[in-house]
Amino acid sequence: MRCLGIETSCDETALAVVEDGRLTASILSSQADVHALFGGVVPELASREHARLIGPLYDSLGLENPPDVVAFARGPGLLGSLLIGAGFAKALALGHGAKLVGINHLHAHLLAAGLEGELLFPALGLLVSGGHTHIYRIASPRAFTLMGTTLDDAAGEAFDKVGKLLGLPYPAGRIMDELGRAGRAVPGLFRPPYMDNDNLDFSFSGLKTAAATYIGQHPELSAAREGLEDFCASLNQVIAATLRLKFERALRTEQGRDVRSCLLAGGVAANSFVRAALRECAEQAGLPLAVPSPILCTDNGAMIAYSGWRLAEEGYGHGLDVSCVPRGTPVPDDLRREKRS
Ligand code: KG4
Ligand code: ZN
Repeated sequence: MRCLGIETSCDETALAVVEDGRLTASILSSQADVHALFGGVVPELASREHARLIGPLYDSLGLENPPDVVAFARGPGLLGSLLIGAGFAKALALGHGAKLVGINHLHAHLLAAGLEGELLFPALGLLVSGGHTHIYRIASPRAFTLMGTTLDDAAGEAFDKVGKLLGLPYPAGRIMDELGRAGRAVPGLFRPPYMDNDNLDFSFSGLKTAAATYIGQHPELSAAREGLEDFCASLNQVIAATLRLKFERALRTEQGRDVRSCLLAGGVAANSFVRAALRECAEQAGLPLAVPSPILCTDNGAMIAYSGWRLAEEGYGHGLDVSCVPRGTPVPDDLRREKRS
């Protein structure tokens, strides 16, 4: 079975093909340069770019035969951008008589590791991206239970917003990771935020304010780049430690106690401090950790194609009426299962 995956939820237009569980084609065009001028993603510009790029990108995949399944990211994301991918996917599915599957972008991030190794369920998953910081219990590729979420800023947002204050280009996460690796964390500069509770939720806005205050008091950080590496090391370390502490807490809950593996995914899963912290945490729990290669951590078409392939293999799909879901709205669990002959 051959599945085409289409990702247009934010500022990457990406398409990929997964055939019998293997990635056979992948193409991605990032709009980062367009949005960097504004210091963040401009939704209207994003939709226009997706509309301009999606056709030529599909053509450049050079598929000899149409796909059996067309999967697309249905949300959460920027609604106008999602609608471009959805319209394209629906037209292709209708024109070629292919099956259609609308994919939850967040779940797809966590399943991406399946392209590089076997996924063991039930799993405990940590999704850390620009818009989300979620802990899930994952019983199967289609059964995700949300255990913890962010109350305000996501981890990636904290990196990007602090980076902006430092005058670093958007999105700043990867650059702050690199700078941090060259520095040494200053003991006690930041404390893991939102820990005096017994829940699995995150809150990074206080940390962002603490970082902003520090930057305001130390103009040499942004002007002369003096002490910048140590500052970044400190921020990376405290974000990684926060994610680890809550994930360890999740592993001790009833829903976390019987899992067979840990999954780490999303753009911030490309962060070296976060990867090392979660690797150590899984090792201590005696569990394998599946984390995609950095290229599969940030938004891509392969994760959508892989998720679509897995769901279609199990007989799941959607009708042409499948909806798109904007950020902040839960993605409905409305997959339909075909009766198998
Ligand atoms: O998953 P993603 O590509 O898009 C969303 O769905 O949000 O995540 C993008 C986020 C951005 O905030 C970016 O700064 C962050 O991932 N990011 C990183 C790194 N690479 C990307 N953050 C920290 N360290 C990195 N190496
Ligand atoms: Zn994403």
